[in-house]
Amino acid sequence: MGGGLQEEGKIWYNGEFVDWKEAKVHVLSHGLHYGSGVFEGIRCYATEKGSFIFRLKEHMDRLYRSADLYKMEIPYSKEEVKEAAKETIRINGLDACYIRPIAFYGFHHLGVNPADCPVDCAIAVWRWGAYLGEEALESGIRCTLSPWRRIDPNTLPVTAKATGHYLNSMLAVQDAKERGFDEAIMLDNSGYVAEGPGENIFAVKNAILYTPGAESSILPGITRSSVIELAQDIGYEVVEKPITKEELLSADELFFTGTAAEVSPIREIDNVTIGEGKRGEVTGDIQRKFFDVVNAKEEKYMRWLEPVYE
Ligand SMILES: Cc1ncc(COP(=O)(O)O)c(C=O)c1O
Repeated sequence: MGGGLQEEGKIWYNGEFVDWKEAKVHVLSHGLHYGSGVFEGIRCYATEKGSFIFRLKEHMDRLYRSADLYKMEIPYSKEEVKEAAKETIRINGLDACYIRPIAFYGFHHLGVNPADCPVDCAIAVWRWGAYLGEEALESGIRCTLSPWRRIDPNTLPVTAKATGHYLNSMLAVQDAKERGFDEAIMLDNSGYVAEGPGENIFAVKNAILYTPGAESSILPGITRSSVIELAQDIGYEVVEKPITKEELLSADELFFTGTAAEVSPIREIDNVTIGEGKRGEVTGDIQRKFFDVVNAKEEKYMRWLEPVYE
């Protein structure tokens, strides 16, 4: 996430707006000790037609589904949290930003069973550019196959976007950075390609797109499902299937998708050049379409954009 966050403005915290510096938790919060939280990462884009949140409904649906998978009851309706997200942007006077809603078990006792712990909720927003850098969107990034396997569905509900799950991502990112790469790619427990620590992955071969499906321990990304729809709309065939390491390394093109990464080409894996070692044609097509959509330039996809100031 780059540099430190600016400590200014307001954070929505349990139904109220509090100063950034006052949005604190107790050190004995359940969520801190056991990673028992669920969260979302959402983007709001500044466009010529105003500020729009990309697929807010789908992000809220995933937040509540993540909570359900952990039997956590968020004490606000989806509609209330949606409205709170928009109001947080307005109160902070932002036009483009990243939005981070989180719900976690708070302070009551420290038994592992969270029963009777309150569910605390917060929404923070901040200005944010390209996650992997503007340059990455054009030239692509250098990745490594992680020695850490992606968490397994027999261990954790991998489709939940839960705070504790990110220890797995953290280890993969730390290892990749230590070895001089921009980002990691994790395999699943069976050795098939899963995803990045915070991104889904697509391979292109002979102008067909391939991406790992639910059986590969992925987080069902909202950018991923958007890209599948947009690629099909352009006229590309998209196949969801387990992808081997060999298929990955011999792809014509590879790219990551994610709220943070948007559509980022991958030009190298462990010093093996992918395709021509730069953004490929298909990736370019998809990236253009994606940015047109989030920038409110495609009437057909305005249904994916939630206006903030209205
Ligand atoms: C592990 C993981 N995979 C994939 C994604 C991409 O999901 P989305 O496109 O919904 O941001 C994310 C980001 O939320 C993630 O953390």
